[in-house]
Amino acid sequence: MTLSVAAGEIVALVGGNGAGKSTLLKSIAGLLPPRAGAIHWEGEDLARVGVHQIVERGLAMVPEGRRLFAGMTVQEHLDLGAFTPRARAVRPASLARVHALFPFLHERRRHVVRSLSGGQQQMVAIGRALMSNPRLLMLDEPSLGIAPRLVRTILTALAEINRAGVAVLLVEQNVQAALTLAHRAYVLESGRITAEGPSAALLSDAHVRRAYLGPLATRA
Ligand SMILES: Nc1ncnc2c1ncn2[C@@H]1O[C@H](COP(=O)(O)OP(=O)(O)O)[C@@H](O)[C@H]1O
Ligand SMILES: [Mg+2]
Repeated sequence: MTLSVAAGEIVALVGGNGAGKSTLLKSIAGLLPPRAGAIHWEGEDLARVGVHQIVERGLAMVPEGRRLFAGMTVQEHLDLGAFTPRARAVRPASLARVHALFPFLHERRRHVVRSLSGGQQQMVAIGRALMSNPRLLMLDEPSLGIAPRLVRTILTALAEINRAGVAVLLVEQNVQAALTLAHRAYVLESGRITAEGPSAALLSDAHVRRAYLGPLATRA
């Protein structure tokens, strides 16, 4: 089965722990070779394209656990994000956009990352990815371990990023939140896509509800 993201879409990829969601995102980002199948971006097979070139093509990933450098400042992280030639050329405009999206990152630009909360660090990670000027932003569990108020801030920001023309591929264990935000979604189980469709349809699907929207999930 094929997973696709069209320009302008928010697509959610949901599934339980160990389903293969992170592996799939890392494969798209070029951090892992695909075990089978192929990954195409605008007609090009990404198998022979290096990680840096994949970023240059317009794909950016916010990895699980954020992967920041504790002793570096907010601004240094944003600078790191604009490392490709295409991103460097539009760095001031990207920085203005990131600061407008998360004013916090401007206020705290000189603070080291270890002084920030988990949710604040997630904003840094998203900001860093946006500095590469992506057309597809992939996020791996951005709400994991983050205070509910900041989860809302981050989900609202994703909707805003999308409205500005960036496609979003969102991996989330918070299935209710992901399906509420996304236009379409895929369910991944044991490395295979077992369901796909418009978010609203999946939200009312009996199997999806039973597997992912049990009493614990719907309480959130
Ligand atoms: N398509 C696949 N086929 C076989 N094994 C897979 C596949 N995708 C992931 N795995 C393995 O399953 C485990 C969990 O994968 P991971 O991507 O971390 O899951 P998730 O992010 O959904 O929790 C890892 O050991 C990974 O190597
Ligand atoms: Mg994962």
